[in-house]
Amino acid sequence: MSADLNTTYLGLKLKNPLVISACPLTAEAAVLKRLEQAGAAAAVLPSLFEEQIEHESEQMAKAEEFGTESFAEALTYFPRQDDYRTGPEEYLESIEAAKKAVSIPIVASLNGASAGGWVRYAKMMQEAGADALELNVYFVPGEMDMTGKEVEDRYFELVAAVKQSISIPLAVKIGPYFSSLCNVALRLVEAGADGLVLFNRFFHPDIDLENMETHPQLHLSAPAELSVPLRWVAMLHGRLNASLAATGGIHDAQGLLKALAAGADVGMIASVLYQKGIDQVAAILADLSKWMDEKDYASVEQLKGSMSRENCPDPAAFQRGNYMKTLTSFVGKAI
Ligand SMILES: Cc1cc2nc3c(=O)[nH]c(=O)nc-3n(C[C@H](O)[C@H](O)[C@H](O)COP(=O)(O)O)c2cc1C
Repeated sequence: MSADLNTTYLGLKLKNPLVISACPLTAEAAVLKRLEQAGAAAAVLPSLFEEQIEHESEQMAKAEEFGTESFAEALTYFPRQDDYRTGPEEYLESIEAAKKAVSIPIVASLNGASAGGWVRYAKMMQEAGADALELNVYFVPGEMDMTGKEVEDRYFELVAAVKQSISIPLAVKIGPYFSSLCNVALRLVEAGADGLVLFNRFFHPDIDLENMETHPQLHLSAPAELSVPLRWVAMLHGRLNASLAATGGIHDAQGLLKALAAGADVGMIASVLYQKGIDQVAAILADLSKWMDEKDYASVEQLKGSMSRENCPDPAAFQRGNYMKTLTSFVGKAI
């Protein structure tokens, strides 16, 4: 008998643990249909950005006030208004279109850095038919006098503000750069997150030496990147009253299996779809089932968290334990 692939994410019953993460592919109804046909269990729409809603966010205003010299990074980081694919109204329409096109759950995505009026769009996304909301908090603290606590408080305030305005489940997508990620995770859940999406990818700017300009770079992921979400999913599994999604470097069934074994409720994919095509959804699911059958796993539930920090035979591997061993056992010679 084939393994039972059902999973629950954000309280939503999903037919399998493979979710399409926020990217422009899910914005097109025709592509969304193909993703559903290939077996995707749910899809996250690309983000609607705080800056799209608040035309003159504080950071944009600051960047413009001081000119490109000192704020080159800020200016290249945030797209100009003209560069945005769609406005907020079109975004709400795209939720309705997605809901009409497919029957899998649709997660809308709101992307911002500070609590403010723009948060009202969370409710509008719910009203447009979103089954859940993913809040991507993307904040690059650059002020010398801003403490870690102040940064974290921004996250908690934002999550609480969004949570207050909706009744659909709320997932929060964050980056890995916190001093105490487990504590931040716990407090995000206390602030209202029903799930955590680990991790956001920060697109670091590159420098064009020829023209002395900065360029925002979007590199598609590589499978090796999965080790970061794996560690933190494994660290958090079973210790939070929230769902966990792993994103970043899942390119095949092996990656998805590792994410589940670490303790994720779902694995999300984007890059591999751009690199290898939509068919990868079906291929990953087929390989997932095959592996589980061969290894006698009856269900995704049985596999989930079997290699989390709490359950794996070598918990130290997820903390400092293996650090020295790994470094000292590395065999490499000067060439
Ligand atoms: C072209 C592209 C656009 C993306 N746009 C968004 C976005 O709008 N909002 C968001 O939260 N993540 C966005 N992401 C990040 C993905 O959702 C995902 O978290 C990340 O790419 C890691 O997963 P992967 O290794 O499967 O690509 C985007 C990724 C790509 C490749």
